[in-house]
Amino acid sequence: MTHKNLIILITRKLPEKIEKKLKQKFKVIFNKSDKRLSYNELKKRIQNVDILVPCVSDTIDGSIIKSGKKLKLIANFGNGVDNLDLVTAKEEDVIVTNTPDVLTEDTADLVLTMILMISRKVIDAQKKLMSGNWSGWGPSETMGKRIKGQNVAIIGMGRIGCAVANRLKTIGGKILYHNRKRLSKSIERKFSAQYFSNLDLMISKADIISIHCPYTPETFHLLSKKRLKLLKRNCIIINTSRGEIIDEQALAILLHQKKIGGAGLDVFEHEPQITPSLLESQNVILLPHISSATIESRVAMGERVIKNIEYFSNGKTPPDLVNKPYYD
Ligand code: 8YV
Repeated sequence: MTHKNLIILITRKLPEKIEKKLKQKFKVIFNKSDKRLSYNELKKRIQNVDILVPCVSDTIDGSIIKSGKKLKLIANFGNGVDNLDLVTAKEEDVIVTNTPDVLTEDTADLVLTMILMISRKVIDAQKKLMSGNWSGWGPSETMGKRIKGQNVAIIGMGRIGCAVANRLKTIGGKILYHNRKRLSKSIERKFSAQYFSNLDLMISKADIISIHCPYTPETFHLLSKKRLKLLKRNCIIINTSRGEIIDEQALAILLHQKKIGGAGLDVFEHEPQITPSLLESQNVILLPHISSATIESRVAMGERVIKNIEYFSNGKTPPDLVNKPYYD
């Protein structure tokens, strides 16, 4: 079935396969250059559009949503929806969908990668070799830390948190977790996970912390300057969720003063800007928001977007509904 009367605006370049599929069924406005649309460009382009497909790099605030006079669906290409004004979308009867599940394993893989690279000082070791400063094997050269037996604290034990717990348990980590809601006994048993209702207590025991809660007004600076002071000196902190959850300035100071063990950050508070002193810190891995950057995830995310659009255009409830303006 084609819906050539529906106009879709895609803000960034999606995998070719996905763009081709969408083109067969809908009238699509693509962004061939993949250059991020400015706020004013987006506001202008959205005017005659029925469906918007944005990414995390677009801020879709109330004013943009209201400029979309025909807008009925925002099919976000991504799991997190903190880039969208969900309140205005609901007020304007605009449906919002996202792409859960499909990026879980790849995100968890990147968390594991960063934990291992920091714990085993992989970057330092490689730098030493590549700078020509390696004079040969030595018994106390570039010593890392074993994961087995370490306390791995997971903040937000949802799909991705559980996938991370699974990997860390396999290599001997002890899983601690903090969630709004305690998980069932059977899930806790599966990961041998210990629940902490008290976040402060959990992070003060952690050797490794990994953040997997969504960014909402409640989780802004959840790891505040005050809380970060509770961390053990060896603690490694990993963030693949959203930068706003950590006070980035405070974290940068702790890293600079070597008051914590290290950090693996795939997300930042003011992307693409990064607190400058982080760039000079040792024992950090800083990545440009690549946790779901595999061809498999990106295609699967696109398929999810298509599915949500198809359900919507056929008058059915999209599977990945985030808000429910019509279906309440
Ligand atoms: C995506 C992400 O790459 O899905 C998310 O919430 O943070 C990323 O892994 C991004 O959202 C794409 O828009």
